[in-house]
Amino acid sequence: MKGIILAGGSGSRLYPLTSIVSKQLQPIYNKPMIYYPLSLLMLSGITDILLISTPHDIPHFQKLFAGSEKLGINLSFKIQEQPNGLAEAFILGEEFIGDDDVTMILGDNLFYGNFQVFRDACAAQTKKENGHNARVFAYHVNDPQRYGVVEFDSSTGKAISIEEKPTNPKSNFAIPGLYIFDNTATKRAKEITPSVRGEIEITELIKSYLEEGSLEVHTLNRGLAWLDSGTPSSLLEASAFIGAIEQRQGIKVACLEEIAYRTKLISPEQFKELIETIPKSEYREYLEIILREETL
Ligand code: DAU
Repeated sequence: MKGIILAGGSGSRLYPLTSIVSKQLQPIYNKPMIYYPLSLLMLSGITDILLISTPHDIPHFQKLFAGSEKLGINLSFKIQEQPNGLAEAFILGEEFIGDDDVTMILGDNLFYGNFQVFRDACAAQTKKENGHNARVFAYHVNDPQRYGVVEFDSSTGKAISIEEKPTNPKSNFAIPGLYIFDNTATKRAKEITPSVRGEIEITELIKSYLEEGSLEVHTLNRGLAWLDSGTPSSLLEASAFIGAIEQRQGIKVACLEEIAYRTKLISPEQFKELIETIPKSEYREYLEIILREETL
């Protein structure tokens, strides 16, 4: 399973914050936003990852993740010249995806909770369980008109329609920015006619699987938090949310070095070497404590 993080776009709703620094590099409490979607991929066992962003922002991501091989992951980069739509990621990632399945996560989507559902979905995708070649998730929200919305048949529970930002949503189930497709996604994306807003829409790609009966929709339960962070108030809320959890538990969320170590992507020796590259800070002290405790 390959992974794509789509982290482009103009971030106009966060202007002037985004006039120099892209949305996905803005802080969520104590880490850049991009750490959170990357942590989800790592925790789902996905280590071969393509990060797609704008010509202006790719150098910033390359700088942030210089030495990412020390996290036990293989991160590569690709430019999206214009925000031509989410599904363009599968065209830009054609060579990278090759013969594999692919999970794409949007760089501004943040999940918190038990990720077993994602690991299970990846495993089911690899086996093409129940003949399904694509998987998306459904999350109950208060404001579905802001998202892609999935409608379920009330008797069978099966997904029957998908709409992008409908004025009159047919359900309260939004589709978060996390998608699992087989490698035909590239061919399908190439066949999509751009929408009136000029974008190759992800909902069209999802629909192509739905219409042939090969889409599985996994419902996320209320124990899992899904936040987006595209506006000043949602950015603040996401920071407060992560801050409250970290302060209460004394455990960091989306700490990439810790995840690499705990999921055994790196050895204790490699973890120690990695810590030594981090400036003296509360972040480094946190990692030093983990190393001491775990190797006692
Ligand atoms: O967050 C989940 C939602 O994401 C889904 O429910 C929707 O179906 C999906 O269309 C998307 O809605 P958004 O309104 O969030 O889409 P937006 O155009 O803002 O793009 C989402 C992120 O992807 C954003 O951080 C910018 C980035 N992006 C967007 C486009 C269109 C790119 O990197 N490249 C692009 O071409």
